[in-house]
Amino acid sequence: MESTIGKPLTLSCGLQLKNRLVKAAMAECMADDNALPTSLHNNLYRTWGEGGWGMILTGNVQVDRMYLGDPRDTALDSTRAAEFVAKWRILSDGCTKAGSALIMQINHPGRQSPLGAGTRRFCESNIAPSPIPLDFGSGLLAKFASSFVFGTPREMTQADIDSVVKQFVDCSRFAYEAGLQGVEVHAAHGYLLAQFLSPRTNHRKDRYGGSPEARAQIITDIVRGIRAAVPASFCVGIKLNSVDHQSRETLAACVEQLKLIVAAGIDFIEISGGTYEDPQMLQSAGQAQKEKSSRTIAREAFFLEFASAIRHEILDVPLMVTGGFRSRTGLSAAIRDNACDLVGLGRPAVLRPDLPKSVILNETVTDEQALFQTSPIEPSWLLKKSGIKSAGTGAESKWYSSQMQRKGREAAVAPA
Ligand SMILES: Cc1cc2nc3c(=O)[nH]c(=O)nc-3n(C[C@H](O)[C@H](O)[C@H](O)COP(=O)(O)O)c2cc1C
Repeated sequence: MESTIGKPLTLSCGLQLKNRLVKAAMAECMADDNALPTSLHNNLYRTWGEGGWGMILTGNVQVDRMYLGDPRDTALDSTRAAEFVAKWRILSDGCTKAGSALIMQINHPGRQSPLGAGTRRFCESNIAPSPIPLDFGSGLLAKFASSFVFGTPREMTQADIDSVVKQFVDCSRFAYEAGLQGVEVHAAHGYLLAQFLSPRTNHRKDRYGGSPEARAQIITDIVRGIRAAVPASFCVGIKLNSVDHQSRETLAACVEQLKLIVAAGIDFIEISGGTYEDPQMLQSAGQAQKEKSSRTIAREAFFLEFASAIRHEILDVPLMVTGGFRSRTGLSAAIRDNACDLVGLGRPAVLRPDLPKSVILNETVTDEQALFQTSPIEPSWLLKKSGIKSAGTGAESKWYSSQMQRKGREAAVAPA
């Protein structure tokens, strides 16, 4: 068995991770009516805490209860800050007993908040850097989803931007007060901060748009704000999408933004990909292999090639890659080849919360046995016919959320 994945890692904030295995962020969709974590969350996260993970990322916590990605997302409601800290403290205490680091993923969905998700009024628009609606395709259902379920977002004013920056900073401070070890700023998957980074969704002409540097401005403001609000020992990570690295121009813009964000005070970078329009992050492992093997050497994880392409640009910041890892040999190779320092596991961590302890780091399990395949979840007939690219992954994500809820209930009755 390879020892690379079992090696501890110390981040620049001083946080020590006991190994390289990270439970990836997955929205649990089971918050209470105040968007706070419940006893099911506490049970589920205690189980992950006992499973041997070096780091555990929470499902995305929305920084503004008005705008959620799912009606049952956890979120910060600034009028309930004390309750937020108290509830997250219970979750954190239970999860970190065995030495895993618990990191809260903080997010704002921007234009990707569906109707009914959040406390905004029925007719109130989503907010985004520019008023550009989602494009799910040309089918009837696809058109209905983009114009009615999500709608055309309202262009954010300077006051909106200041308010969102403050919400990210406040949420981080409360995470610190609740005893978590850090936050991960979600700037991937087409959510608000990713909308700012991309020239496709950001047409602004002010200090937040017009160049790669300006499009990263809101994120550097957020990271600097968080750094000023919490002790230096608190970890701040960032999740970013990979870009098409065959195009030199987009890669150069992405690297420029990455360097600016890192300079603002980042402890680790997680690489992912996809949006609601094109959800690459939830493709099945087999599908990714088929697509890749025709043009390059097939590697297990979806975004490893991109990680390798940017690796030398940010040598001193640990890189994490999530998506598609399904074997110990795949994980070990990624770290041994220096493509990344941390590996994230999503769906396999739902099926087996104790995967590190029982399989990956268990020396009695051979490499041939140390596999953690997942089967694709089929969408309904109607969804398949809709022509919406994300229909299939929507079904997949719903099924895994339901499994997290089930695990939360089962853990409640398990003997202590
Ligand atoms: C149910 C579910 C919810 C998810 N929620 C989030 C989330 O809140 N934040 C995030 O960054 N990624 C989220 N993801 C994506 C995962 O973090 C991960 O990138 C994806 O599952 C691919 O990794 P895997 O192949 O190991 O499953 C979610 C995935 C699933 C299955």
